[in-house]
Amino acid sequence: MEAKIQLMKKVYAIALIATLMASCQPQTKHETMEAKNQTVEDILNRRSTRAYKPEQIRNEDLDIILQCAINAPSALNKQSWEVRVIQKPALINAINEGFVKYASNKKMEGNASKSQEPNFSVFHGAPTIIVVANDTKNDYSEVDCGLLGQNILVAAESMNLGTCVVGGVIAYLSTPEAKDLVAQLNLPPNYKPLYTITIGYKNQWPDAKPRDKTKIQIIK
Ligand SMILES: Cc1cc2nc3c(=O)[nH]c(=O)nc-3n(C[C@H](O)[C@H](O)[C@H](O)COP(=O)(O)O)c2cc1C
Repeated sequence: MEAKIQLMKKVYAIALIATLMASCQPQTKHETMEAKNQTVEDILNRRSTRAYKPEQIRNEDLDIILQCAINAPSALNKQSWEVRVIQKPALINAINEGFVKYASNKKMEGNASKSQEPNFSVFHGAPTIIVVANDTKNDYSEVDCGLLGQNILVAAESMNLGTCVVGGVIAYLSTPEAKDLVAQLNLPPNYKPLYTITIGYKNQWPDAKPRDKTKIQIIK
């Protein structure tokens, strides 16, 4: 009888732990369709992450993400992008501070509308920032850079890392006030920052935002 009670207790404890673990899982599942494979799953589960844990991402993961980035297609394989990974807190903070000042006398939209609040971070507090710069002399460069960026987002999601494209900071990086900061990116002539991506361990799991299926038409 004692053995039976012990067994029941064990089964109960295992069931409780399993339930708790399941309830702690991030609620990122897309609701619209069944994923067919891991890649589809990662594309559908990716969300913009705007809260990060302070830990830096692993170098091994970053290497794979960057490898995926530059494996994007590009017109005539010109690879008309420059990629800069910033993991230097002083530079990240300097860009953020410059952005806050830049935004102080402007009406900003989205997350930037909170730029004058304490502890604001245009990069959402992420420990790694990727700056993607385009070749202003190449007509396809913005497309090339966009495709590179999506590879970064999907590769990071496959490692359960959070990302967010941050384009809002580019207007500031294009000002004369940001010249010295941009110089630290060591970009070749004709290249200019197009957008940035934040990466880090997720500290939020937002729901999917609605998508407009009427944007698609299949013409047969
Ligand atoms: C070109 C571009 C610029 C963006 N700029 C910002 C930005 O400055 N700040 C921000 O928090 N999110 C930014 N986003 C993220 C979008 O707000 C987000 O992708 C969109 O709302 C859809 O949500 P989802 O990424 O979670 O699916 C940007 C996205 C793109 C593609």
